[in-house]
Amino acid sequence: MAGYLQNPETGGSRKPVTVPRLIAMRGRGEKITVVTAYDAPTAAWAEAAGIDVVLVGDSLGTVIQGLPDTLPVTLDEMIYHARCVRRTLVHPLLVVDLPFGTFQRGVDATVDASIRVLKESGAAAVKIEGGERVLDAIAACTRQDIPVMGHLGLTPQSVHAFGGFRRQGKDADSARRIIDDARRLQDAGVFSIVLECVPDDLAKAVTEAVEVPTIGIGAGPHCSGQVLVMHDLLGMLPRTPSFVRRYAEVGQTAVEALQAYRDDVREGRFPQAEDKA
Ligand code: KIV
Repeated sequence: MAGYLQNPETGGSRKPVTVPRLIAMRGRGEKITVVTAYDAPTAAWAEAAGIDVVLVGDSLGTVIQGLPDTLPVTLDEMIYHARCVRRTLVHPLLVVDLPFGTFQRGVDATVDASIRVLKESGAAAVKIEGGERVLDAIAACTRQDIPVMGHLGLTPQSVHAFGGFRRQGKDADSARRIIDDARRLQDAGVFSIVLECVPDDLAKAVTEAVEVPTIGIGAGPHCSGQVLVMHDLLGMLPRTPSFVRRYAEVGQTAVEALQAYRDDVREGRFPQAEDKA
């Protein structure tokens, strides 16, 4: 196994991350780390790095499929990618987004889609975007012991209603609505809430208003944890949202490696006799 996949800090004695453990982490004030992954190699990186939660986000529509938004992503595609991730993920909690066209169809459709995700992918939880309008669907899942992560603020499946990927909660009314929605999501039984692209002070107010962990993205430093799209933080894509910190330039490194390979093949430097299997 490659050396970078054998992190001594995260191997051996590490315990799997569970829903109760995440809630306890918030209680102890320990920050929760979340990244997206969509396939086995990137999940193995998250595993080796000691990340707490891996999210198979429907952002795979834009990141992997090259789409302008997440709306065309299907439940079958989510399950396919989650199965790929499951194969190399051991310790982090695996959460899978319910894509557009599942929970929007009502309570039964939400429970059916969530059961499919847990049965067919081996995930531990689903994520559902929205506030008041999805409370019944979320409560129906949590009553059946299907853990649900909520998602408020810039919910990308609402891109057309929002008129674009716009920051949410900027005025007093919409900020108040997001705080109320967070309380209602907690009452419906969510075990955590993603807060996407909302002002820092609103994320702080939401975090103070609920007991479950809040997971911020473009929402400042006051949440219980943070989530980033792995391809963004690794610099695998040419452009990233302004709130992303690029911790590497993997895209640049990949192009340079491919150019070196191309030149070696063209110049007869690869393969050499010693490169044989
Ligand atoms: O789809 C996704 O990846 C997400 C995260 C960015 C929160 O919802």
